[in-house]
Amino acid sequence: MRRVGIVGAGGISRTHADRWNQMPGVELAGFYDIIEDAAQRAVQRSGGKVFGSMNELFDAVDYVDVCTPGTAHVQPVIAALEAGIPTVCEKPLANSIADCERIVDAADRTGTPLFVAMVVRFFPQFAKAKEVLDSGAIGAPGVIRTVRSGSYPDAGSGWRKGLAITSYYADFAQSGGVLLDLCIHDIDYQRWCFGEVERVFARGMMFAGKEPKDHALLTLRFASGAVGHIEGSWSYPRGRSSSRIEIAGTGGILEWDSRTRPPVEVALAQEDGSLASSGSSPTAPKDDPYYAELAHFVRCTEAKEPFLVTPYDGLMAVKISRAAIESLETGRPVTIS
Ligand SMILES: NC(=O)c1ccc[n+]([C@@H]2O[C@H](COP(=O)([O-])OP(=O)(O)OC[C@H]3O[C@@H](n4cnc5c(N)ncnc54)[C@H](O)[C@@H]3O)[C@@H](O)[C@H]2O)c1
Repeated sequence: MRRVGIVGAGGISRTHADRWNQMPGVELAGFYDIIEDAAQRAVQRSGGKVFGSMNELFDAVDYVDVCTPGTAHVQPVIAALEAGIPTVCEKPLANSIADCERIVDAADRTGTPLFVAMVVRFFPQFAKAKEVLDSGAIGAPGVIRTVRSGSYPDAGSGWRKGLAITSYYADFAQSGGVLLDLCIHDIDYQRWCFGEVERVFARGMMFAGKEPKDHALLTLRFASGAVGHIEGSWSYPRGRSSSRIEIAGTGGILEWDSRTRPPVEVALAQEDGSLASSGSSPTAPKDDPYYAELAHFVRCTEAKEPFLVTPYDGLMAVKISRAAIESLETGRPVTIS
């Protein structure tokens, strides 16, 4: 039995804790949070114990799962790697390029496995699209377009409902807004599909003083000559999240839209009377992308195999997101170094 400890007991830690609790051969040891009350609530909901310090947690576990905000990844991730404990780090790898580079250095120096939780690569539809692309069925890739939209991720939205935690998403210095927090999923996915990005151009609402809304449009120029479009939005009404993908090649086109309903949808009544959809059907654990990414971490760690997402991939996704933010600020395309 492997024991996992979660650092940072907020919204996404719930999602991870549920998956760890479903996973054979893994036991959730508990949570450490700088706000002890947050760890207490997480333990009441998901089990395990409250750890009084990060080192106390490190002493009790085989894996560490870092679920703090991006600005607070660098310290726990490097400490876990230096303690020799295989680690999961939520996206973004870190909020700044400098912190990402420190983490990549620590992973290289220690040789401790570090998995960056870029969950979109584990969504069955996105994984299938990559598989089709790699099979050559649609020919040489030319254009990729992805859309990811939802409501503003404040304390009252989606899975955050009922958490008495002030959302850090509204603070650009903490979250990097829609470009660093949301579009990074598609930046990583498109780079996985199409290879290195040479240039990025972005337009958006980030600095338009329209909070609490944010929306961005990005164009990526790949070294291959292919072009990527990304639309990311936190401007939709609650309950209208969606994602879309379209890849066009010399021999065909591939499309998927999450708004096309799955055949069985389970929508459960929430405390405030609204319905929240499970969004997936049928719900075999292996179809759940969060389960799939954490199971991948365990499988690769135990088999001493490389992860699908490397620390370098995490660094590049932040570099491109940061270049997009610079493009938005300057109104010019930005070259990726
Ligand atoms: N992959 C996804 O779909 C997805 C979805 C949501 C969030 N995320 C990512 O997960 C991370 C956390 O997001 P969230 O929404 O859960 O945030 P949150 O604000 O709900 O929770 C973060 C928790 O971390 C704690 N914390 C902060 N600094 C800490 C430190 N140094 N040590 C210990 N605990 C600390 C806070 O007290 C808080 O309880 C972010 O990086 C975010 O981008 C990913």
